[in-house]
Amino acid sequence: MNIRSVVQAAQPVGTLNSFAADVIAGLTAQPKTLPPKYFYDLAGSALFERITELPEYYPTRCEIAILHKNAPAIASMFPPGSALIEFGSGSSRKARILLDAAATVAAYVPVDISGDFLQQDLAQFKRDLPHLVVHPLVADFTKPFAVPPRLAALPRVGFFPGSTIGNFEPAEAGAFLRHSGDMLGAGALFLVGVDLVKDEATLCRAYNDAEGVTAKFNLNLLARINRELGGDFDLAAFAHRAFFNAAQSRIEMHLVSTQPQKVRVNGIGIDFGRGETIHTENSYKYTIESLQALARGAGWTAAEVFSDGLFAVHALRASGIRNQGAPDP
Ligand code: SAH
Ligand code: AVI
Repeated sequence: MNIRSVVQAAQPVGTLNSFAADVIAGLTAQPKTLPPKYFYDLAGSALFERITELPEYYPTRCEIAILHKNAPAIASMFPPGSALIEFGSGSSRKARILLDAAATVAAYVPVDISGDFLQQDLAQFKRDLPHLVVHPLVADFTKPFAVPPRLAALPRVGFFPGSTIGNFEPAEAGAFLRHSGDMLGAGALFLVGVDLVKDEATLCRAYNDAEGVTAKFNLNLLARINRELGGDFDLAAFAHRAFFNAAQSRIEMHLVSTQPQKVRVNGIGIDFGRGETIHTENSYKYTIESLQALARGAGWTAAEVFSDGLFAVHALRASGIRNQGAPDP
């Protein structure tokens, strides 16, 4: 199905019902899981920002340095008058680097599921870049969403930094790349930031910081269930665990029940054995080649890659004739 044909039917994101349904489905599955997109309420987004400042968490620093170093080259690929659409924008600080270098960008559309957080930092953009139309969208980027009608005719450049693509299963990442290609249009440029496979010690340190911020980020998922779904998780009875699964090339994050216990969520009782885990996140690590192969399979051509050996920013080009934007129906 063409993504444009269903945009009007998009559901509101983060509705209580979908959160509740996904949580109950995940906690009653075997093994227990929770979708990582629910990390990001206001508290979770703030914790993620703290993670990006940690000495152990290198990806953000690496990607920012890559973007600074290569901003003129990247900006030269933008079609004039384009709309920069960022998937999972968070604080938007990486987009700011590109927008400062690409003066001809006409509009910036940050898309994020974390609605309260999304609204916070954009006032400064409007002050510093008065020519720029800034149109935030609170949406789940795995589902179709509509580009605002007044921006629909602009050529689109996609931006998906932070290695958030690594939080998808590889098949989901392929499907996401294909759908985003439909949405961005033929010939579109898509910048995708991806953490690279590297030695296990560096990877594990990044998800097991000494200050315990990543543990708090992980446990916030249970705190959020308590806040929003009337759960009675005892956070002290769960421990953060993160390790590298080399066979699958991914960091896995889990919450481990430290004792046998019963938890109630939305009136439903869920039993945990001692040592039983909730699998909360995968963070897949790619080589430059494995990401390019995934992108090729989803209709993208590798135009350029910018890397420091730890992290890579891929410039992908959608097959077909350069897009001029197209109205959503
Ligand atoms: N782009 C920023 C933030 C990365 S953190 C950076 O590179 O530092 C991942 C971001 O994606 C968070 O802001 C989170 O709220 C958002 N996110 C995660 N899953 C999402 C989804 N399904 N739909 C929309 N946003 C999502
Ligand atoms: C947003 N995402 C790419 C981060 C990651 O590294 O997978 C989320 C994160 N999880 C723990 N630390 C950071």
